[in-house]
Amino acid sequence: MFDSRLKQAAAEIQAHFDLVLSAFEDSPVAHGMAYATQGGKRLRGFLVLEGARLHGVTSERALWPATAIEALHAYSLVHDDLPCMDDDDMRRGRPTVHMKWDEATAVLVGDALQTLAFELVTRPEAGSGDVRADLALSLARASGVEGMVLGQALDIAAETADVPLTLEQITRLQAGKTGALIEWSAQAGARLVGADPAALGAYAKALGLAFQIADDILDIEGDAETVGKAVGKDADAGKATFVSLLGLDGAKRRASDLVTQACDALTVYGEEAETLRDAARFVISRRN
Ligand code: IPE
Ligand code: IPE
Ligand code: MG
Ligand code: MG
Ligand code: MG
Repeated sequence: MFDSRLKQAAAEIQAHFDLVLSAFEDSPVAHGMAYATQGGKRLRGFLVLEGARLHGVTSERALWPATAIEALHAYSLVHDDLPCMDDDDMRRGRPTVHMKWDEATAVLVGDALQTLAFELVTRPEAGSGDVRADLALSLARASGVEGMVLGQALDIAAETADVPLTLEQITRLQAGKTGALIEWSAQAGARLVGADPAALGAYAKALGLAFQIADDILDIEGDAETVGKAVGKDADAGKATFVSLLGLDGAKRRASDLVTQACDALTVYGEEAETLRDAARFVISRRN
């Protein structure tokens, strides 16, 4: 059930990207945007669509915020891979945008994907004026200097810190770097109807942390071909991660406890939320 739902969500999001991006005039940046938004698991977009379904919103409408968050996520990856950040050559099994084009194009592709995300959540098709304003405001907060960008800044700073981060500091770093966008994704469905997003938020907080622990574990246990990006980079960079602090077994136990916590947070939605619970289980069993 979960597998087919995720596949279907990925196909719908890709079709939506094709539609939106085909309206842009041919240019290296437009090509880079299409390239950077291809592939990926589409977990964040899937969370938007599933949260929306729980609140009775059609996927036709929810595809706007679902595609928006995948555009914003893709921007974060294009910039994350730049030589001045993680300096990575491979992403989603292909050359990174700055390898395929050049650094200036990659910076601009990231910039344009970020603004595209805000365009997509504020398009009239996404809902009423109030809903669109709420989506845009919450997305700005999740992405910016108190959200994803904060996490990225802490992550980069940690590489050159004299003392390794504590568990508390890493948890804060990850809540920004990975957690904020995942939380926004899970809550968007409630926002689309003006419902209380608290339960989905609690689910996503635990899920986001479990997701990042799994990413840290894949950096150690995964192979580059399956994962689609370089592995072993965290240890090489001397980064403190959940694995370096808790050990592999400890990190796996923590991730599994977080999945239980995420599933429990969805009690108010009953059986209807089973696909989201499956998504939480998938997050720690994934191979890429
Ligand atoms: C990778 O995210 C970056 C992190 C925040 C750890 P994903 O693992 O969701 O990447 P894609 O979208 O599937 O490529
Ligand atoms: C990337 O984190 C997080 C964002 C892009 C916001 P990582 O640097 O750990 O992700 P990977 O391992 O390159 O996918
Ligand atoms: Mg990084
Ligand atoms: Mg990286
Ligand atoms: Mg990583």
